[in-house]
Amino acid sequence: MKILVINGPNLNMLGIREPGIYGDKSYAALVDFVRQVCAGLGAEPEFFQSNHEGAIVDAIQGAYGRIDGIVINPAAYTHTSVAILDALKAVSIPAVEVHLSDVSAREPFRQISYAGMACQATFAGYGFDGYRMAVEYLVEHHGRA
Ligand code: DQA
Repeated sequence: MKILVINGPNLNMLGIREPGIYGDKSYAALVDFVRQVCAGLGAEPEFFQSNHEGAIVDAIQGAYGRIDGIVINPAAYTHTSVAILDALKAVSIPAVEVHLSDVSAREPFRQISYAGMACQATFAGYGFDGYRMAVEYLVEHHGRA
């Protein structure tokens, strides 16, 4: 099973950006973590990080016919991007939304998730572990209607 792990803007700054909210571990450490999770589950991960909305749309479109599941943390675009929502709907690849922080307990502008409307599940507030939960969810539901 091929899984595309998409991380949106500023997640390349993990470890540096607001460590009190997002933790002190780097984006490279996140990639290592997800790689290990996937290895343990027999899944094949691919990673994509971008600070640009259109590049994320392109990555989702590029997954069509090639990728079995998407793990996506659209970061700030979560709360603004109808384009990312539409891309997820266009490819209709099973997708799971992840947030490192518990967005439900944060500012009002973080309470809407457009991408989440095209996702089968959301894991928020579990740090890196949310990505593990998302990969497990996709592996568990792979091949089911
Ligand atoms: C985030 C939450 C978003 O609200 C924020 O804009 C981010 C990261 C998270 O992982 O907690 O950049 O997606």
